[in-house]
Amino acid sequence: MCGIVGYVGKRPCRDLLVAGLEKLEYRGYDSAGISLLEDGRIDTVRAVGNLANLRAAAGIEPDGDGAVAVAAPPATIGLAHTRWATHGRVTEENAHPHGDCSDAVHIVLNGIVENHSELRAELSEQGHVFSSETDAEIVAHLIERNYDGDLTEAVRRSFNELRGHYAFAAMHAEQPETLVAARQECPLIVGLGSDEAFIASAIPAFLAETRRALIIENGEIVTVTPEGASITDAAGNPVERDADQVEWDEDTAEKGGYATFMRKEIDEQPDSVAETIADRLPDRDRVDLSELEIVPEFIAGMRRIVIVACGTSYHAGLVGRYAIEQWARVPVEMDIASEYRYRDPVVGEDDLVIGITQSGETADTLAAMRLARERGAKVLALTNVMGSQATRDADAVLYTRAGLEIGVAATKTFTTQVAAMYLLGLWVAQHRGTIPDERLAELIAELKAIPHKIQETLDSVEDQVKAVARAEHEGRFFLYLGRNIGLPICLEGALKMKEISYIPSDAYAAGEMKHGPIALLDESTPVVCVATESPTLEKMLSNMEEVRARGADVIAIATEGSPRVAEASDLAIEIPRTDWVLQPIVAILPLQLLAYHVARMLGLNVDQPRNLAKTVTVE
Ligand code: F6R
Repeated sequence: MCGIVGYVGKRPCRDLLVAGLEKLEYRGYDSAGISLLEDGRIDTVRAVGNLANLRAAAGIEPDGDGAVAVAAPPATIGLAHTRWATHGRVTEENAHPHGDCSDAVHIVLNGIVENHSELRAELSEQGHVFSSETDAEIVAHLIERNYDGDLTEAVRRSFNELRGHYAFAAMHAEQPETLVAARQECPLIVGLGSDEAFIASAIPAFLAETRRALIIENGEIVTVTPEGASITDAAGNPVERDADQVEWDEDTAEKGGYATFMRKEIDEQPDSVAETIADRLPDRDRVDLSELEIVPEFIAGMRRIVIVACGTSYHAGLVGRYAIEQWARVPVEMDIASEYRYRDPVVGEDDLVIGITQSGETADTLAAMRLARERGAKVLALTNVMGSQATRDADAVLYTRAGLEIGVAATKTFTTQVAAMYLLGLWVAQHRGTIPDERLAELIAELKAIPHKIQETLDSVEDQVKAVARAEHEGRFFLYLGRNIGLPICLEGALKMKEISYIPSDAYAAGEMKHGPIALLDESTPVVCVATESPTLEKMLSNMEEVRARGADVIAIATEGSPRVAEASDLAIEIPRTDWVLQPIVAILPLQLLAYHVARMLGLNVDQPRNLAKTVTVE
């Protein structure tokens, strides 16, 4: 989830580019850089940290009002970037823009190039020399290889050699009036001004300069000059499209046209999950987590796995426990980090302890991880933030690639954590030889299809969810019931509901109903039942009958084509079919949306609920 800004026109562009980056700051980043082309030469400045560091490195000094005081160099074409590290550490070398061998081609990229290792090996063999650890740098070298005087053609050929999930923009020292960009899944927009044009990953980057936006679609390449933009498809056929007039104010633009960050982040889930799994599933029957630096011998011989986390991250761990035990047959113990750290746990050398924390800064999770490490366990951090404390306190790190989450309620960070737990489960199974090759291949294929199933669900369930929210938002209590892999989804659904709507909500293992909670039920209680395909569905159906017998409304989350769930509920919200262990990553979506719509109907601030902050570092 990086930020791209490019400019070509008649005005000196350094400060325009930095101003564009500032407008993308809300997306979060760990480093930034800018390349300017002037007199046939490209100059680049990159810096780790915030834009003040980039400004200092570029010799741009803010005056008292924060405006730029030093005269900008006259370059009228350039590229700039803010990076949220995915491949390669947070260093100046890994910050974008990246150049080719002779510094003639510069590129900025957002997303992931899945086949970067193959391409790097091939290009190295042909004599290309790389100066960063990133997948992005490959693109500069590919364009170099394909360039014979026509930048658009070189980008088109390079684009056809890439696999993945990305958008990039390129310039060439010989082409002082041309930027070329390409899109595969990640957003790319051209802003058209008079005698100038911008390229950006999001509209706010150029909104102060122009409101005419040309949206680039998947599989398209756009050539941008001061006179305008021309689009082709990947085969080189021209594409005709008119620019749109953007009516948004700045605040709406930051939210990509959404009313709230939370809603925007819910819709980012197909992308963030795709980025999290992309290159880690390089073959049809192999998971590649070699980035973990844990020796396969340890994985093969370890005694058990312990997962520690808080809140939503704890729920992702619970899903992970089912997946790991099911596929890898290793015992998994789960604990809430704030309990684990104070209970003098028995943990030692043969244990793998996984700390899940999206921020990487939650005090209880860090303390639990440190305690386990002191006692000799191998500690793995599963986090979304490069360079966070958890990454420094762990023996190995697995990153989710959700990008910055601004809404306090975790949504896309949850599904990316679950996706990462699935990867881990399959990887451990692969090393312990507990999963037949055919089954592994099946699950990998299913996992690869998950981003599309997430998209399908987001496209299909909203009206039903809104109807439930409309009917129930003035209620006094929500109950969530599930079994097996559905239970963590209920816990997470109930957490979302109480966190942003302030309506008391509880989640229970459906089998526990008869031991007390059934007393809560009457005609006024909406009961959300996660009744997706699983070995315990039969039992879940009986629990739903019990609930209905007490007059409560049953809202079921069902796998598509489950007539018995539809019969046993007042409303069945269907989600696409997938392997039952993978259902939770899709089943959570209607529950996120339900909490969201209930809170919005109550007029609440879903991005910043009361009493909550994004990272809980206090003890
Ligand atoms: C709920 C939520 C919290 C966090 C918890 C742990 O929507 O966001 O429950 O999941 O505070 O935070 P991390 O994952 O940063 O350790």
